Amino acid sequence: MTTLFINIKELVQVREEPTSLVAGADMKTLPTLKNAFLLVVDDRIADFGQMSDVGKVHLDEVDLMVKADGQMILPSWCDSHTHLVFAGEREGEFVDKINGLSYEEIARKGGGILNSAKRLAETSEDDLFAQSLVRLKEVMALGTGAIEIKSGYGLSVDSELKMLRVIKRLKEEMPIEIKATFLGAHAVPQAFKNNKSGYLKLLVEELMPIIQKEKLADYVDIFCETGYFSAEDTEVILKGGKKHGLVPKIHVNQFTSIGGVQIGIKYDALSVDHLEVMTDADVAALKGTKTMPVALPGCSFFLGIPYAPARKMIESGLALALASDYNPGSSPSGNMNFVVSTACIKMKMTPEEAINAATINGAYAMGLESEVGSITIGKKANFFLTNKINSYASIPYSFGASQIKSVYLNGVEI
Ligand code: NIG
Ligand code: FE
Repeated sequence: MTTLFINIKELVQVREEPTSLVAGADMKTLPTLKNAFLLVVDDRIADFGQMSDVGKVHLDEVDLMVKADGQMILPSWCDSHTHLVFAGEREGEFVDKINGLSYEEIARKGGGILNSAKRLAETSEDDLFAQSLVRLKEVMALGTGAIEIKSGYGLSVDSELKMLRVIKRLKEEMPIEIKATFLGAHAVPQAFKNNKSGYLKLLVEELMPIIQKEKLADYVDIFCETGYFSAEDTEVILKGGKKHGLVPKIHVNQFTSIGGVQIGIKYDALSVDHLEVMTDADVAALKGTKTMPVALPGCSFFLGIPYAPARKMIESGLALALASDYNPGSSPSGNMNFVVSTACIKMKMTPEEAINAATINGAYAMGLESEVGSITIGKKANFFLTNKINSYASIPYSFGASQIKSVYLNGVEI
């Protein structure tokens, strides 16, 4: 199947040279082609260029021609941090929060992650799959074309495996790139209330070997935070993960800075995520490393906590990715359009920086930078067409709305 898109007002994020990520001052540059064409053969980008060069395309080989007059094309959003597989919502806690309880207070009275774990244990694998599928389809329609999904609401051998098997099934059945992360160390479950080290031992010695054998995860994660898991616990999990072929991608510095960033770097974490609280030492430690910092502005918005200091990080020369953190407790939305808007409005990222962060840098944070994240010959044909808009700045400007008209994954309109 060959599809030719013509008269594209602006083809955004075109990268002719292989680009794995963009950092620092380079994030301000978003390469585009105005009045462009895009050629897709089967599931791949085959060619693109200025309309004045469209003559080089063999029209007799084109099966479908799409006129994109007034519309822009962007590569799909790459959402590198989600907890999209969960059972039931926690809107009751949302109301508690409005009435003045903090995230920590809600967790202490049995809400939070343990509440989700209880519900998940009572939900069958098929039901969990069905609920998760609805969410996945929803974010695909909102422009997401590659996504990472974590376990971490299981907190027992059976339930963690149930979550990871649901992620595997989503991956097999849906036309979107999916990476799986084992987040057994999301919270200490009730059964191990006074035996955290026993729980860590179970994760490393019982669960990780099964996950490795059944190829159920690509990455390992831990919630490194005061009241959850310490820097020492993080070291135990990352060491165990490495032994079982799992690359670290970790939750750090959401509320407090307790050394998790440095541990992540020590174990070659692919990304360190949240970063609402960043000391100068944390920022300095990330310089010159291969670890991608990931900000989750939807979580800051929903919980009313500080935003990751994007300006400080970018001006220090760091790269930055943006992700949704889609989960029932701290960010019950997987809308990357809103994430990009919020990054511009609240974190003072320019539209160029935010789009780079939500595409190519997000792809890097999932190890998918050679497959998705930019309009590059040979990459997956995962992209979306916008409404008729003045400029790509209209995407973050129209906060709360989607400027997406149609979505293509693997070269096929969904
Ligand atoms: O990334 N911070 C830790 N984990 C999730 C929230 C989990 C929950 O509240 O259910 C997060 O924000
Ligand atoms: Fe998270």
